Amino acid sequence: MKLQSLRRTALGTLAAASLVIGGAVSGHAADSPQPGAAAEPVLRDLAAAKGIYYGTAVTASKLNGTYGAVVGEQFDSITPGNEMKWESVEPTRGSYNWSGADAVVDYAEAHGQKVRGHTLVWHSQLPGWVSNGSWTADSLRTVMNDHIAAEAGRYKGRIDHWDVVNEPFNEDGTRRQSVFQTAIGDSYIADALRAARAADPTAKLYVNDYNVEGINAKSTALYNLVKSLKEQGVPIDGVGLQAHLILGQVPSTLQANIQRFADLGVDVAITELDIRMTVPPTSAQLTQQKAEYKAVTNACLAVARCEGVTVWGFTDSDSWIPDVFEGYGAATPYDENFQPKPAYYGIAEALGWSDGGTNPTGACAVTYTVQNQWNSGFTAQVTVKNTSTAAVNGWKLAWSWPAGQRVTQAWNATVTQSGTAVTAADAGYNAAIAPGATATFGFNGSWSGGNTAPTAFALNGTTCTA
Ligand code: G3I
Repeated sequence: MKLQSLRRTALGTLAAASLVIGGAVSGHAADSPQPGAAAEPVLRDLAAAKGIYYGTAVTASKLNGTYGAVVGEQFDSITPGNEMKWESVEPTRGSYNWSGADAVVDYAEAHGQKVRGHTLVWHSQLPGWVSNGSWTADSLRTVMNDHIAAEAGRYKGRIDHWDVVNEPFNEDGTRRQSVFQTAIGDSYIADALRAARAADPTAKLYVNDYNVEGINAKSTALYNLVKSLKEQGVPIDGVGLQAHLILGQVPSTLQANIQRFADLGVDVAITELDIRMTVPPTSAQLTQQKAEYKAVTNACLAVARCEGVTVWGFTDSDSWIPDVFEGYGAATPYDENFQPKPAYYGIAEALGWSDGGTNPTGACAVTYTVQNQWNSGFTAQVTVKNTSTAAVNGWKLAWSWPAGQRVTQAWNATVTQSGTAVTAADAGYNAAIAPGATATFGFNGSWSGGNTAPTAFALNGTTCTA
């Protein structure tokens, strides 16, 4: 069955906003929306218009047919569920199998998606030669660094975020006694981050864990780790909150917790979201799950440094939950037949979609990202998306600095500043932005006191969503 007919089934009379043809995304409608009816949401477009990404974990071997079509159309970041883990890529020392990992990265590039690399150093899904080896600190550090150099090096420049270290803590905030912790000691995390930076200088480097979504002993240990790494100048760009949640138990401190990490000067991502419930689900449970997916997405949207959300499998037919938690399931936004569940619409609503037939995206959408920041300077990247149906030919993007920053040097645009008002004009070769396409430019700036991101942008005088 084609995706289009699946959507019709799911949505009744609602018309589709975009159509998957041969796995590629087409931004135009096959049918026009009925008057008064809403266009079906496309999560990746809605998320981009809000300045975040929406991702899913994937299984490489399934990236075809309806599964592949939904992944390509709805998500703008993908994480290999298993294919980049140590046992998958280096089952014997120095002997690599990249087939699954390559397939995921190739798929992402063909579909304009980010890749979240998962994961370089983890106590689980390790090959026996690592977990059962007899190691000194030096010998295991060498093995770990070699593994990171090989894997992060292979995908250098093609991975947006790396979960460099996964699940380093126990629930009480002490260090998990993994083979890395016991052989190398506390410093293995800093060693791994440095090795990852050396192997792929442009990937954002994350430490990722579960049960760290709310403020608790474990997330405070992670907080203290990040603080100390930053103080030592160890390369750490972000923290991943896995968010394997149970219906009715979304932590009330989620947003405050994201904010406290952001305030430390790192990015945050929700990396493995699912919300499990007892099965078979009741409609009341599915409605509650919708509200909770919405709340988690809203918590990310509320904090500027929250980069995006990844669901751990988008369909209940590709979820780890039933295998591990007996009697639980229905944890993802699509059911086992690829039908969107209420949770899917909860995400879409958090991202600004409404079923009242309004177009939430407007004419342009701007993503403003501080990529690097130091005591008095910073580097930022700005992506302007043309969300209208008309081509842009020649553009000026205007914004005003909220904290007195100054642009000192720009690329891919000509940037001028007067007082706090900034205008970035196209650089000629990127003057045309087709409907649905983007233009990206960057700059270095200076700041003092604060470096709050601008929130209002106008493209050729028209207000954009930011
Ligand atoms: O590939 C084999 C297959 O050949 C075999 O027939 C089958 C029989 O059990 O097992 C298959 O391997 C399974 C693998 O997933 C691929 O499906 C493993 O048994 C199974 O243990 C493994 O589970 C993965 C789990 O990590 C392992 O801890 C899940 O798919 C994966 O979603 C899950 O992901 C983790 C994150 O990496 C870290 N955070 C928690 C999250 C959930 O556990």
